[in-house]
Amino acid sequence: MEESKELTRIGVSLPSNLLDKFDAIIRGRGYSSRSEGIRDAIRAYIVEYEWMERESGDEIGTITYLYDHSQRGLGDRLTEVQHHYIDMIKTSTHIHLDEENCFEVIVMKGDAKRIKELAENIMSLKGVKHLKLTTTHGGI
Ligand code: NI
Repeated sequence: MEESKELTRIGVSLPSNLLDKFDAIIRGRGYSSRSEGIRDAIRAYIVEYEWMERESGDEIGTITYLYDHSQRGLGDRLTEVQHHYIDMIKTSTHIHLDEENCFEVIVMKGDAKRIKELAENIMSLKGVKHLKLTTTHGGI
């Protein structure tokens, strides 16, 4: 997306604790102003939304998730569901995080719709606590 040089001012009302957290993050990341941090956050939000809406086409994506390895049968189900996408999975890594949790990263290349489908399948399994789907593409 080509961005216009012309800037528009907007007024936004936010809960103060949300703004405090945001300010702490942008300070830590070295932004010169709150406006620049907000512009970047909006760009990231648009990229993610547009990607999620895209129905087809080849993409590269990563699926990261945390799960409770003591959940009965979960390890087997995770393996089984991934085997349905072996044509697209380029690599995966498993880290034993602590006594209870495992962390995995799957890197995929292929149809965007199927990447999203695998992420949704994993997210729906009982014992999966947190999942994040990411991708990179040009144009913004
Ligand atoms: Ni583990």
